[in-house]
Amino acid sequence: MTVQIDHALEEIRRFRPSPEFAAQSVADPALYEAAKADRLAFWADQARELLTWHKPFTRTLDWSNPPFAKWFDDGELNVAVNCLDRHVEAGLGDRVAIHFEGEPGDSRDITYAELTDEVKRAANVLEGLGVGEGDRVAIYLPMIPEAVISMLAVARIGAIHSVVFGGFSSDSLASRIDDAEAKLVITADGGYRKGRVFPLKPTVDEAIAKTAGSVENVLVVRRAENDVALEPGRDQWWHETVGTAPAEHEATAFNAEHPLFILYTSGTTGKPKGVVHSSGGYLTQTAFTHKYVFDLHPETDVYWCTADVGWVTGHSYVVYGPLANGATQVLYEGTPDTPHPGRWWEIVEKYKVSILYTAPTAIRSFMKLGRQIPHEFNLRSLRLLGSVGEPINPEAWIWYRHVIGGGSIPVVDTWWQTETGAIMISALPGITDLKPGSAQVPIPGISIDILSDDGTPVEGESGGLLVVSEPWPSMLRGIWGDPERFKETYWEKFGDKYFAGDGARHDEDGDIWLLGRVDDVMNVSGHRLSTAEIESSLVAHPWTAEAAVVGASDETTGQAVVAFVILKASQVSHATDPADASEELRKHVAMQIGAIARPRQVFIVNELPKTRSGKIMRRLLRDLAEGRQIGDTTTLADTSIMQIISEQVK
Ligand code: WTA
Repeated sequence: MTVQIDHALEEIRRFRPSPEFAAQSVADPALYEAAKADRLAFWADQARELLTWHKPFTRTLDWSNPPFAKWFDDGELNVAVNCLDRHVEAGLGDRVAIHFEGEPGDSRDITYAELTDEVKRAANVLEGLGVGEGDRVAIYLPMIPEAVISMLAVARIGAIHSVVFGGFSSDSLASRIDDAEAKLVITADGGYRKGRVFPLKPTVDEAIAKTAGSVENVLVVRRAENDVALEPGRDQWWHETVGTAPAEHEATAFNAEHPLFILYTSGTTGKPKGVVHSSGGYLTQTAFTHKYVFDLHPETDVYWCTADVGWVTGHSYVVYGPLANGATQVLYEGTPDTPHPGRWWEIVEKYKVSILYTAPTAIRSFMKLGRQIPHEFNLRSLRLLGSVGEPINPEAWIWYRHVIGGGSIPVVDTWWQTETGAIMISALPGITDLKPGSAQVPIPGISIDILSDDGTPVEGESGGLLVVSEPWPSMLRGIWGDPERFKETYWEKFGDKYFAGDGARHDEDGDIWLLGRVDDVMNVSGHRLSTAEIESSLVAHPWTAEAAVVGASDETTGQAVVAFVILKASQVSHATDPADASEELRKHVAMQIGAIARPRQVFIVNELPKTRSGKIMRRLLRDLAEGRQIGDTTTLADTSIMQIISEQVK
């Protein structure tokens, strides 16, 4: 394979941090220097500074048996104590940990003291149900405080949680319960989504009926008050058990390498992988990145990460990072457009959110609706914006900064993965000159390389494969029950360097640009083209709201670029002829990137197929572009979408 990626999308704007921001920033260039001088000593310092250890560690990294790393492995700590008790002991018990906002408009503020008590109660109940060190607990809940409480209660007693996103089906839940042999399931009667109650407990019942029988108990939070059946002897209400349990609970310490959680993520094969994370290293890096990437001032900031706890972003940047740092945060149950399209901005105004962390897909859907919606609200409390999940195209970056951020506040684009556990590549606001569209630089203490297929470093602007070349504290420790798959997937390709599965390039300043998954990189007439780059170009066109690009097999060129584009509402109301729009966009891409990138086809559609977490399922679009039968659509948020798109493409 020749790794040479054509790119032409020039984004020349740079944004220097304002002097005011730089002056108050928690990050200091000395962090980079310290990490460069002695990487391991740097991480050991962070672990000591940011966390409280029951038993201090003396060893930082054991990499004697790659790819199985051990960090701080003679140390002991309790993760929940680090997120809760120690803040209360430090006199911060009255600080709000969570401003909870339910979709129907109910709200509840929970202080650190209250959250600590709730977690202790839940820990007592779990132990009463016979859950102990190393046991697995499946959590299938809406975005309500009990999700956070459950995770921390499991962590407190040294059990291992496996959070399953509430939008997953009973089959997916059953396979995850079976794979981890979960003993307990924590769920709710239901939750609120898009103005309706969505039942969860019935799905749990269905799922358990399909499992091999590991589940002994089910704990049910009453949230939506929909009718549910409790199976005597197996199921119990949360409010009747946790609600009445004592709030005294002595926490014991666990080894730093003790597993904290399993989180399933889809791989290249059909079977989801159970990514395993451990305690000390994971908490060190989530706390470190949460503090420095988000410039956290815990006394004054109100932080809001919009991710669901069912995904890794919710684990690291709703639960562990922010709580380890004693942050005050917003937790919102529902969807961005319920009961009105300005709901998020209303929440920002209500709680005076100062740090907002969300995904490009959300930003682009707000762009589609137009700036007048956010402009109805007072967003002046915002002082920092973050992005994660996919490359953020410069146009969305600029819109985010201007329309949401008022034009002058930093936007950090953070690259990482379920497997990396925490942010790996990001600007540090206050230090880094920001460059829209680029994730920019490895965080201090992280070593990133871009390699060609044969493992040689790719310098300059031709692209290659992103690897993490040194072990890092929050790295995955394996795939649950499948060490071979762990080695094969991530380590076989480059020996002891971690293969991330993403394409990337360095620009002339050495900044990193992510080019999408390598499986989404196309080869057109021997030229490698990135789907992300063409999408970015399409989205930069004033008519485009959203775009997805796939490489479809083509007799003459090997692969051809096929694009699916949603036009902006204004364009649709001008009744632009789809054929004209498609021709205009093909020309636009050819002009911006080069003739080689001109899409063979641009289909104008109303919707794109997305998973429940908002990722576009390009595989399905590729099926369509290649005239194949559409593959498995069960992970789509709306399974009827492909039918509609097929009609439009005909
Ligand atoms: C992609 C989400 C470009 C990437 C935290 C990665 C990104 C995959 C970015 C992991 C970013 C995530 N720029 N691409 N800032 N952040 N990705 O496991 O392809 O859900 O491999 O973790 O998302 O997705 P995951």
